[in-house]
Amino acid sequence: MRRARTIAQVRAAVRAWRRAGQRVVFVPTMGNLHAGHMSLIEAARAHGERFIASIFVNPMQFGPNEDFAHYPRTPQRDERMLRSAGCDLMFTPEVSEIYPNGMTHATRVEVPGLSDILCGQFRPGHFQGVTTVVAKLLHICAPDAAVFGEKDFQQLTLIRRMVSDLCMPVRIIPAPTVRADDGLAMSSRNQYLSAAERARAPVLYRTLCAAARRIEAGDRDWVAIEREGLRVLTAEGFRPDYFAIRRQEDLGAPAPESRRLVILTAAHLGRARLIDNVQVTI
Ligand code: PAF
Repeated sequence: MRRARTIAQVRAAVRAWRRAGQRVVFVPTMGNLHAGHMSLIEAARAHGERFIASIFVNPMQFGPNEDFAHYPRTPQRDERMLRSAGCDLMFTPEVSEIYPNGMTHATRVEVPGLSDILCGQFRPGHFQGVTTVVAKLLHICAPDAAVFGEKDFQQLTLIRRMVSDLCMPVRIIPAPTVRADDGLAMSSRNQYLSAAERARAPVLYRTLCAAARRIEAGDRDWVAIEREGLRVLTAEGFRPDYFAIRRQEDLGAPAPESRRLVILTAAHLGRARLIDNVQVTI
């Protein structure tokens, strides 16, 4: 596995692979890799011959009171994991490489509407930071395909829309959420949980599954199901931001006849803000 710190190094590697007729698949990450990220690399295998993973904790997607400074950074471990997963190129740029003119007046990419709802309502500017950095990374790596986890369902939806709106020549591959045995979705932010909070955290997924079962059983009272989700989470000691039933394709409010749904939630537990979702097709 090679390591690139500059855009020029990435472009040179990609040019050589293309000349050899090899397809390039890209997995963007913020590092602190875990089984969820490894599953993205696994998903990448089916779509190409060469794999790039980026590790970049993107300052633009963190709010002023969020955890940018404390976000877990484990570069040596990440490198070992990517090497053993068969990654060809690890891209670890400095902030100045990605934002050469600083961030304040930098060109930004925004997907209006989709970026302001759900998590966007509680993390203003977050998704603009995500779409801006992902657009840059796709531009730098010029992959045939890029893999994003379904755990960040709203992010995945935004990126699909951005790629479509900007006519970007890249296929977006969704990868299923990886869960611990008790159902908790893998996330770097799970490390913020105390032992007692970690034991309670799987309630988030169980509450989503309970809502999914109600829908599968024929309940179409979305408001009542959402209210019950919020009630259970609050009673279990979470501070939920939202618990929402939406259409899978565009995260719009579902009609009674909607068939492809996703239930999404974000909730604080101690220092951690956990997000998760369950898709339901009826
Ligand atoms: O999902 C993430 O880890 C980040 O939002 C991403 C896609 C790497 C952009 O910084």
